[in-house]
Amino acid sequence: MMLDFSSIVPYWHMFVTGAVFTVKASILAVTLGSIMGILIGALRVVPVKPIKGLAAAYIYVIRGTPLLIQLFLIYFGLPSLGINLPAFTAGIIGLSINSAGYVGEIVRGGIEAVPKGQWEAAKVLGLSYLGTMRHIILPQAIRNMLPALGNEFVTLIKESSLLSTLAIAELTMVGQQVRSVTYASFETFIMVGLIYLCLTSFTSIALQLIEKRWQVH
Ligand code: ARG
Repeated sequence: MMLDFSSIVPYWHMFVTGAVFTVKASILAVTLGSIMGILIGALRVVPVKPIKGLAAAYIYVIRGTPLLIQLFLIYFGLPSLGINLPAFTAGIIGLSINSAGYVGEIVRGGIEAVPKGQWEAAKVLGLSYLGTMRHIILPQAIRNMLPALGNEFVTLIKESSLLSTLAIAELTMVGQQVRSVTYASFETFIMVGLIYLCLTSFTSIALQLIEKRWQVH
């Protein structure tokens, strides 16, 4: 079997549009997901049992069920409650809600990695719980969390391919469209895979540079 990429070349602009869409969706989802996740992670370490429990339950359910099912629940399920979301909105909400569960764990881990002695020292200095959190714990925790948050972004770039199941025109969906007109299935998905690889490699390298900067300061 010979690979022949010439038949997909005329569709190059579709691949570009799809890739840009994938990056946009991932940035949006990682931003919203991080905001929600930081909240969940913070609630997860609050010394109040019911709140802690709720945050833990969120993380448990989100991480214990497939992202695909979460997307289907939001896009196909919510309409039976009268909530009809456009595919893109549903997709971004689903990705963000999912990401928040993972970021929540990252935040919890980052906070718990700060040595207990710091809490005790802050108490001796007369700082409140929130004051300690804000001025002592979080600045250190954020540094612990950065590499994992970067990985989460890379993960979302790949996971966003599931948005194709909602007919959102991201990279994987574009691949399906190009395949259906060219019948060059192997070539199309090799191309799609390579573009994802470029996106994830580029993102990883950029994140490593940012991390190095942070370590210097
Ligand atoms: N694909 C897996 C799932 O469906 C992993 C999702 C990972 N998501 C994340 N935001 N890190 O559950």
